[in-house]
Amino acid sequence: MRKKIIAANWKMNMTVAETVSYLENFRSHVDEVNGVEIVIAPPFTAIAKLSEILGGSQKIRLGAQNMYFEMSGAFTGEISPAMLRELFVRYVILGHSERRQVFGETDALINKKVLVALPSGLRPILCVGETLEERDAGREKDVLETQLRGSLAGVTPAQMNDVVIAYEPVWAIGTGRNATPEQAQDAHAHVRAVLAELTDASTAAKVRIQYGGSVKPANAATLLSQPDIDGALVGGASLEPLAFSEIVKAAVEK
Ligand code: PGA
Repeated sequence: MRKKIIAANWKMNMTVAETVSYLENFRSHVDEVNGVEIVIAPPFTAIAKLSEILGGSQKIRLGAQNMYFEMSGAFTGEISPAMLRELFVRYVILGHSERRQVFGETDALINKKVLVALPSGLRPILCVGETLEERDAGREKDVLETQLRGSLAGVTPAQMNDVVIAYEPVWAIGTGRNATPEQAQDAHAHVRAVLAELTDASTAAKVRIQYGGSVKPANAATLLSQPDIDGALVGGASLEPLAFSEIVKAAVEK
């Protein structure tokens, strides 16, 4: 059984003060929730405060939205895995489509980050997904395979247990247009098949694959009831504590 994992990607939103009041509110809604792993990935500036508030909580894990692949040095503006671990960050989102599109990240660069995150004790949430143009051209499966093979090169089957994949069709991110449960399930099954080729069937069966792209309280339950959808990576709706808590609740016993 794969434990569902619901992650909030706050992107470039939320000050430290907003983080504090969000957490107070959010926690009151998820007090009774069990059996779902919750991850919050705030901007770097709010990580230290959130780490202090969570104090090693088993229920809500801390995530980062990005990191660099060196431990220290002359890399102006970057954050290292060691810095994240010092604050008890457990997950790191890597290869988000905004990183790929706005900041030009390639599979080769993302692969370097994945290979450094894992031995540092950070679990990558590796994002993959096709653009609308690629889907319209019927190339979505090839695109996913290329991204997975490129970003996961050199990852051992044992390490794969600590990897979470987020399937995020680029055309569904922040657009209000989510993939249908069938489209998402089809892509997730393909991702799992590629993971089985990269490792083996039993390893692939254990990897959690999140869906991301306009997940909301209204569509979460149907998406999460698909056999290969093991969670959600939530942007816009995660900024609202009540909405995010409803998505978390939709993952209970799915
Ligand atoms: P969205 O973003 O939920 O606002 O579509 C998802 C993401 O980018 O991870």
